[in-house]
Amino acid sequence: MHMTIVYWSGTGNTAAMAEHIAAGAQEAGTEVRLLEVGSASAADIEQADLVALGCPAMGAEVLEESEFEPYWQAVKGLLKGKKLALFGSYGWGDGAWMRTWQDEAIAAGANLFGGEGLMANYAPDETECKTFGANFAKA
Ligand SMILES: Cc1cc2nc3c(=O)[nH]c(=O)nc-3n(C[C@H](O)[C@H](O)[C@H](O)COP(=O)(O)O)c2cc1C
Repeated sequence: MHMTIVYWSGTGNTAAMAEHIAAGAQEAGTEVRLLEVGSASAADIEQADLVALGCPAMGAEVLEESEFEPYWQAVKGLLKGKKLALFGSYGWGDGAWMRTWQDEAIAAGANLFGGEGLMANYAPDETECKTFGANFAKA
């Protein structure tokens, strides 16, 4: 199996989630590509068996608007039937950005791992992220 993880992170919390998820998946025996969104293409999604996307809550409970949201809009049509995991860090909100994102993923036909994304309030818990990555690798 081949997992591609694409993320955006401003202050490093979602990047740390991505790294821990990658480590957990690798420990479970899966090949992982870890890409910042600025280095990712649509082909990276098409070629992956498992796709994990990470973005924190930004703006007012939305995805980061200059890089990540355009990427999401460009690739969500490729996710029909694909195994997808969502993750991201947030601050003072209640996770509304993730609920909206989950709804869009499900509407796009993605097979959303766990039924909901993994959220971390600011800095993530390493063990929780590694377990998420390992379980997604086995999905
Ligand atoms: C411009 C900006 C907007 C934000 N908007 C929200 C928000 O709407 N809801 C929320 O819970 N946190 C919000 N946050 C907090 C971030 O989601 C939080 O700091 C998160 O840990 C950032 O993740 P990162 O380190 O991967 O960039 C915002 C932060 C910034 C800088």
